[in-house]
Amino acid sequence: MQIFDSLATMRSQIAGWRRDGHKIAFVPTMGNLHEGHASLFEQARTYGNKVVASIYVNPMQFGLNEDWSKYPRTLDADRQVLQAKQVDALFLPDDKIMYPHGIDVQTFVEVPRLSNILCGASRPGHFRGVATIVNKLFNLVQPDVAVFGEKDYQQLMVIRQMVNDLFVPIEIVGAETVRAADGLALSSRNGYLTAEERAQAPVIYQTLRWCADELRRGARDYPALEQQARSRISSGGLRPDYFSIRRHSDLLEPASEEKRFVVLAAAYLGKARLIDNIQVLD
Ligand code: PAF
Repeated sequence: MQIFDSLATMRSQIAGWRRDGHKIAFVPTMGNLHEGHASLFEQARTYGNKVVASIYVNPMQFGLNEDWSKYPRTLDADRQVLQAKQVDALFLPDDKIMYPHGIDVQTFVEVPRLSNILCGASRPGHFRGVATIVNKLFNLVQPDVAVFGEKDYQQLMVIRQMVNDLFVPIEIVGAETVRAADGLALSSRNGYLTAEERAQAPVIYQTLRWCADELRRGARDYPALEQQARSRISSGGLRPDYFSIRRHSDLLEPASEEKRFVVLAAAYLGKARLIDNIQVLD
């Protein structure tokens, strides 16, 4: 696996691959790679014959009191995951490369509406940081395809809208959430949980499944379902941030005749803020 920490070497290698007719699939990450990321690299391989990953803990998407400085940085272990998945190249930029003049004077990408609801309401500026860094990475790597996990469903929607609105010529692929045997969605932030908290965490997915079953059975009193779901999560020992039933296509609030949903949840547990979602498509 080639590792690039300079723009010039990465650009000339990718230009060479392109000249040779290779299709480039890209997986941007913040590192601390786990089985969820491994499945993104596998998906990427089905779309491109050169797979490029990036690791960059993007300060612009973290709020002042969030976990940017504590976010786990585990490069040696990450390299092993990347090598095991036969990733061809790793782009490893630093803040000087990504924000040479600092974040405060950085041109940004703002995806309206979608960025300000749900996680965006609790984390103001988060999706501006995500859209800006993903756009910068796209311009540097210039992939044909980019793969993102559906665990971050709202992020995936923000990136899809950015790509559509700005005519970015990259195909965006969403990859299914990978879960532990007890249903907890794999996430780097699960590493913040104590053993006791880890045992409590699956209540989020259990509640999402309960709500999905209710919707499939025809329940349509969304506020009542959301209220019951928040109570279940609280009874499980977590502090719900939001639990929301949304229209699958655009995350707007659903009408009573809606048939396709995504149910999204965020909850605090110890030092972690966990998110998850479930799609209801039948
Ligand atoms: O999902 C993530 O890991 C990050 O938000 C991303 C897409 C790599 C941007 O920093």
